[in-house]
Amino acid sequence: MKICIVTTTIESYENNRLLNAGKELGHDIKIVGLDDVVIEIDSTNTGAYVNGENLKDYDIVTITIQKKRALILSNLLQQLGVKIFDNNLTLNKFQLDKISDAVTFYKNGLSFPKTVNVADEEDFRDTCNEIGFPIVVKHSVSSTGKDVFKLNDLSEVDEFLEKLEEEHRNTSSYILQQNIPFSQSLRIMVINGKIAGAAKKEMESKKNSAIPVEILTGVELSSSTQKLALDAVKSINMHIASVDILIGEDGKEYLLDVNRTPGFEKLEKVGSADYAKLILETAIEKAV
Ligand SMILES: Nc1ncnc2c1ncn2[C@@H]1O[C@H](COP(=O)(O)OP(=O)(O)O)[C@@H](O)[C@H]1O
Ligand SMILES: [Mg+2]
Repeated sequence: MKICIVTTTIESYENNRLLNAGKELGHDIKIVGLDDVVIEIDSTNTGAYVNGENLKDYDIVTITIQKKRALILSNLLQQLGVKIFDNNLTLNKFQLDKISDAVTFYKNGLSFPKTVNVADEEDFRDTCNEIGFPIVVKHSVSSTGKDVFKLNDLSEVDEFLEKLEEEHRNTSSYILQQNIPFSQSLRIMVINGKIAGAAKKEMESKKNSAIPVEILTGVELSSSTQKLALDAVKSINMHIASVDILIGEDGKEYLLDVNRTPGFEKLEKVGSADYAKLILETAIEKAV
């Protein structure tokens, strides 16, 4: 089969693995950059082109990037009758933020920490007081933990608000969340409705370095944790996702986050799953 992967990270470990998995499965597979795609709307030549090549000539195009332009491209290719795997991003109508996800998790009765979104600064302060400290603040489209903060008191909240103002950012782009003291932080990969693999996240201090690094180790999941992960991914209609779950010190499970374009480099080192092969097979099976 002729397969094209459209991505923003051509050189990534994951895409290299997908490329090799595709070749091993006997496919003619290629990776192209989203930024190299030209979208042309014209009465006779409408299409998406990369270096003059028409993406219409592929049997399957996969586009799982959470960017508006990727969704436009996915939409266009679907209009042109190309089989697309976009991990249902277009079907979900561009809902890509943690607030929309929280609503969906609530609707499906899934255990999720108390989460509040406010637009007004005074409401932001009041909500922090109400939920209690420490409080977790996250950008509503954060995906790599880089826009996740823990604020310990009102003075840290004020500092945070000042920084937002300096950077011309709005409080409404953030969510406020109850801090969950936890005994385990889990990352679970769900592919095609099944648990493909899982790991426990730990922070480890490296010799001669002040910054702890995240390490993953293997873990056995309880059946209720497995169910929460599977239900979470199902609720947002994804074929491929990784789920972050905390096991609280209170023994309860808390769903934190579902990542739609999950990396698997670190996960592959702690288990035997062939994520690239599973992902590619799922993309081929679920392409529409
Ligand atoms: N409510 C919370 N309570 C305690 N720790 C949290 C909470 N939310 C996030 N964290 C910590 O921050 C990490 C990143 O949070 P997450 O919601 O997954 O954001 P991102 O989408 O940026 O990965 C989690 O793996 C967890 O260790
Ligand atoms: Mg996460």
